[in-house]
Amino acid sequence: EKEIPIPQPPETFLLGNLPDVDPVFSIGSIWKLKPIYGDIFKLNLKGNVIFISSRDLVDEVCNEDRFEKFVSGPLKEVRALTGDGLFTAHQYEPAWGIAHRTLMPVFGPIAIRKMFPQMLDISSQMILNWDRLGPDHVIDSADDFTRLAFDTIAFCACSYRFNSFLTPDPPTFATQMAEVLVEAGKRAMRPNIENNLRVWSAKETESKIKDMWKLGDDLVAERRAHPQPENSDLLNTMLYQKDPLTGHMMTDENIRFNLTTFLVAGHETTSGTLAFMWYLLLKDPEKLHKAQKEVDEVLGDNAIELKHLSQLKYVEACIRETLRVQSPIGALAMHAKEETLLAGKYRVKSNEKIQVNVRDLHRDRKVWGDDADDFRPERLLNGGWEALPRNAWKPFGNGARACIGRALAEQEMLIATALMLQRFQVEMADPSYDLQHKSTLTIKPDHFGFKVRRRPGKD
Ligand code: HEM
Repeated sequence: EKEIPIPQPPETFLLGNLPDVDPVFSIGSIWKLKPIYGDIFKLNLKGNVIFISSRDLVDEVCNEDRFEKFVSGPLKEVRALTGDGLFTAHQYEPAWGIAHRTLMPVFGPIAIRKMFPQMLDISSQMILNWDRLGPDHVIDSADDFTRLAFDTIAFCACSYRFNSFLTPDPPTFATQMAEVLVEAGKRAMRPNIENNLRVWSAKETESKIKDMWKLGDDLVAERRAHPQPENSDLLNTMLYQKDPLTGHMMTDENIRFNLTTFLVAGHETTSGTLAFMWYLLLKDPEKLHKAQKEVDEVLGDNAIELKHLSQLKYVEACIRETLRVQSPIGALAMHAKEETLLAGKYRVKSNEKIQVNVRDLHRDRKVWGDDADDFRPERLLNGGWEALPRNAWKPFGNGARACIGRALAEQEMLIATALMLQRFQVEMADPSYDLQHKSTLTIKPDHFGFKVRRRPGKD
C-alpha cells in the first residue's frame, strides 16, 4: 500500500489547531471532529497529536514492542503535583519500575479483598447519610460519589480518614486538587507565551500543590514516628517493602508523589463511573429493575459480605458497560518508540503523540454493532465478555501502564452499588435531565442529581 498523509483540519497562523479545541473540555472537540475527519486525524496542538478511534488502529498501538505511554501535554503538567509517581512517570524513569514492582502484589484482586471492611465502612456512611437526609433531599452525584471514592482511597491507601460525609463541603484537599487539574489541562492547551505571562495563577497553583504535599509528608512522618506493623495498607508497603528486582526502596519523595497519585487517580474516575452508571440505569428502568432483582436474590436482607460480590454478575456487567459507553477517561496518550507506519500507510514520528479516543473506540460499530451507542449490559453476559476482540474495551488503559487500581475500583463500585440497590429506590431529581459532561482530568456528568427513598421493609 502507498503511504498517505493523515487528515488534518486547516491550521491557523502561529496557533496551529489550538483554536479547534475547547481549552476546558478538549475531548468534546475531538468527539465532534471524529465524524468529520474519520478514525485517524491529526491536530497541531503545540506539536502534532494523532487521534485514533477504531479498534483496529488501537489494537496496533497497544503493541508494547512498538508503542508506549507518552507523558506530555496535560499529563506532563500534572507532574507538577505527582512528579514521578506511577501515573505521571515517564516509562524510562527508574522510580516507575521500583514503585510498580513493589506495589503490584498489594493491588491484585486477592490482596484487595483485605480492604473489604474499609470499603464497607465508607459506603455505609454514604448510605446512612442519605437515609438521614430523607427522600426529598437532592443528592449531587458528583459531590457524594467523590466523597465516597476519596474517603475510600485515602482510608485504604494510608488509613487516613477525610471524613468528608461529616462536613457540608468537600475536603479542601479535593477542591484544591480539582482546581490544579483544571489548570493543568488549560496550560496544556495555551500557547507557551501565554502560560509564561500568567505568573499569578502559577503562584497560586504552586501554593495549592505545597498544601497537598504536606498531607502526604505528614502521614509518612507520622507513620515513621509511630510504626503500625500490623497494618496492611499501601503506605506500609511503600515504606517497608523492597523492589523484588533491584532491592531498592521507594524514596520518601516518591512515596509522597504516589500517595498524591492514588488520591488523584483513585477518586475522579471511580466517582465519575458511578455517577454515569446511575444516570444510565435511571434512564432505563428495566435495567435498573434487573440489577435490583439480582441484589435481592444474592443479598436478600442480609448484610453484604465479600462472598456476595462474585455473584453480582448483572451489576458487574452494568459497571463494565458504563465504562464502555461513558468512560471517565477521555484519551490514552502513546507514542511510537521509533518512527513507523500505522496501518502500513500513515507515517508517525516518535515525538508525535498518539491519542486513543476512548469514547469512539468503545463505539466502533465493527465490534459493538449498530446499537453501539446504547447502554446494554446484557451484551457482556453469557459469553459476550469473553468473546470481545483484543483491545476493544480499554477503560483501564494498556499493558504495563494500565490502571494499577482496577481491582480496588471494581470492588469499591460493586459494594457501593449493591448497598444502594438493597436499601433504596433511587429516582432522578429532575426526570427531564439529559446528560451533560464536564471534565477536569477525567469526564463526569454535570449537574446530575438523584433522590433516594427507603424501600419498604428494608430497615
Ligand atoms: C492508570 C483508569 C481507578 C490508580 C490508569 C489508566 C487508566 C485508568 C485509563 C491509564 C492512564 C494512561 O494510560 O495514561 C481508571 C478507571 C478507574 C480507575 C476507569 C475507576 C473506575 C483507579 C484507582 C486507583 C488508580 C481506584 C487507586 C490507586 C492508577 C494509577 C495509574 C492508573 C496509579 C498509573 C499506573 C501506571 O502507569 O503504572 N487508570 N482508574 N486508578 N490508575 Fe486508574
